[in-house]
Order: sequence, then structure tokens, then C-alpha cells
Amino acid sequence: MQTEKTVEWVKLSNFKGVSRMIDQTLIPYEYKKVDIKTVDEMYNAIKIMIVRGAPAIGIAGAHGVVLAAIESMGKPNFKEEIIKKADYINSSRPTAVNLSWAIKKQLDIVKNSQESEEKIVELLIENAIKLEDEDIEINKKIGEYGSAIIPKGATILTHCNAGALATVGHGTALGVVRSAFEKDPTIKVFADETRPRQQGARLTTYELTRDGINTTLITDGMGAYFMKKNMIDVVVVGADRIALNGDSANKIGTYMVAIAAKYHNIPFYIAAPKSTIDASIKTGDEIVIELRDKKEVTVINDKPICTDKVNVINPGFDVTPASLITGIITEYGIFKPEELYKIFE
Ligand code: MRU
Repeated sequence: MQTEKTVEWVKLSNFKGVSRMIDQTLIPYEYKKVDIKTVDEMYNAIKIMIVRGAPAIGIAGAHGVVLAAIESMGKPNFKEEIIKKADYINSSRPTAVNLSWAIKKQLDIVKNSQESEEKIVELLIENAIKLEDEDIEINKKIGEYGSAIIPKGATILTHCNAGALATVGHGTALGVVRSAFEKDPTIKVFADETRPRQQGARLTTYELTRDGINTTLITDGMGAYFMKKNMIDVVVVGADRIALNGDSANKIGTYMVAIAAKYHNIPFYIAAPKSTIDASIKTGDEIVIELRDKKEVTVINDKPICTDKVNVINPGFDVTPASLITGIITEYGIFKPEELYKIFE
């Protein structure tokens, strides 16, 4: 069990501090933390995925606003400067709503506070640390609710990495796996490789095997084959943005897994905190899908895997329609997609 926070604010002195995060681009080769000291460094860390996973980039965004405030101290337009820098950080990745959710929480403090610059920085740090701690608590609740839908001895298929590394700790989809494993150590996981960035192969198998959970790595095209062979009992994945009708954006390839699960009558669950639900959008059609660098597809281990004459397109996410989703596991319980709106009541 990863006991350290994936991303945390480290105070160095009164108005000095860093966002310390596990560099996820290095795993599984190396486990190393990096200190993010400026707004520009934070933009880059989120963009190149040193920190990734919706809840983790939310916390990184909250830290980014602290850095923005520290950088803006003593400037004539203190608050406007912070807002400008926060907008810049928010533009680093468009799909995961947790980023704008956490940045907004921080900016509410900036906009509503009449305190001194020093006090505002202090309040932002306090709030960022509170969000970190709450994230772990929320994931434990998601895990507890979710473990109830895992049958004894089940094999769970998951896609991408919605684990401790994608959050501050414990994980959402992998939080469900972890909580289920505590009750029943015979459960197993099939982890999709998750091309092109291989979060499943690099991060999910790393996390789960370290916890002693029986994990099998498969490539993204293999899921339906194992479903047909009755080797998968339930699918649990995370989400980056959920529309009010339950349509859920998650790592590219999730939609295909959901279609295969429906065909084989296998329950398909999303595990995500309330902060991933975007109540401002009615359906998944409104979700902006991030288009990433073509090189993520064409280059592996610094070597091109195809001719440069080929066309390439690299969307980072897809949207699974609510009709394919059995339930959405949150810190408030499990909701059918059509009942998700109740979480805001
Ligand atoms: O591109 P990534 O690695 O940030 O994508 C991550 C995912 O799609 C996760 O499944 C999602 O953010 C949920 S993380 C708890």
C-alpha cells in the first residue's frame, strides 16, 4: 500500500513551499519525487503527465494557485495576477474536470477574501492541504461502497490507472479493488495495457503487485476475448468528467471495454468522486476531448514504430454512454446513471 501522498504541498518557510509529486513518467523504472516550484513548472508537470489522473491533477492545480499567489505577492494587481496564472494552469489539460474544480475552489478564496496578501497565501495553503486529505478519505469511502459489488473470488477488469498514483492516495477504481482485497484476498485483476501511454502496464500493475494483488496484464484488444471465456466478472474504471446524465469520459479505450461488457452481460462500473461530476453539462457530447501529441502513438522507447507517411490521431479520452454503465460508485454511495442528479440534492 502506497503510504506517501502522490502529490503534496511541502512548506519550506512562511511564504516558500513546493508541490512535491511522484514523477509518474519514470515508473516502473524509477521511483522519484520532483519539486514543482513555479507556475510554469506546474503547467508543464500536468501537460507532460509527471502528475496525471483526474483527482491528482486537481490537487496539482490547487498547488498551482498557491504558487501563483506566491509569485504575485507585491505586484500591483495581486488578485488579477493570480487569476491569470490560474487560467494558464487550467489550460494544461482540458478533459478532467477536477483540475478546474480545484482551481475554482482556490480562486473563490482569492476573490472573496479581504485579507492581506500574506494571509491569502496562508489560506490557500491550508485549503490545498485540506483538499489533499479529503481526497484520501473520499477514496476510502468509494472503496468501501464499491467493495460491496465485487463478488467473492471475482476477477475485475480495469482500464488505465485510477489508483493511488492517479489520486493523493488509495485510488478510485483501484480503491474499490484495494478495499475488496482487504475483505477477500482471492480477488484478481486484469489490467489493460492502455495505449498509448501505458498507464495500465506501467502504473496499475506496479501498484497492485506491490500490494500483493493477483494481477494479469493484457493488451487493450484482449478484453472481449477473456469476457467470452467467462474470465471477467466485473469491470471497474475511473472517470475524468461525468455529465449529469451519467455519460462518463475516461481514458481512450474505455468505451470499447464498456461495449464488450454489455454484450457479455458483465456489470460495468465507474468509480469517481463527486468532484468528477460536471453538473454544468447535461450529456457527454459537451465534454472536450484532449488531443495529444502524435508521437505518443508513433514512438515507443524513443524509436518510431511506423513510417512518418502515415496519418495519426491521438484523442486522450472517450465518452462511455450512460446506457452502458451499471452504476457510478461515489463517496455518497452507488448511483444508477439516471439517478446521478440526486447527488446534488
Ligand atoms: O491521461 P491520464 O493518465 O491522466 O488519464 C487518467 C484516466 O483516464 C483515469 O482513469 C481517470 O483520470 C481517473 S483517475 C482516478
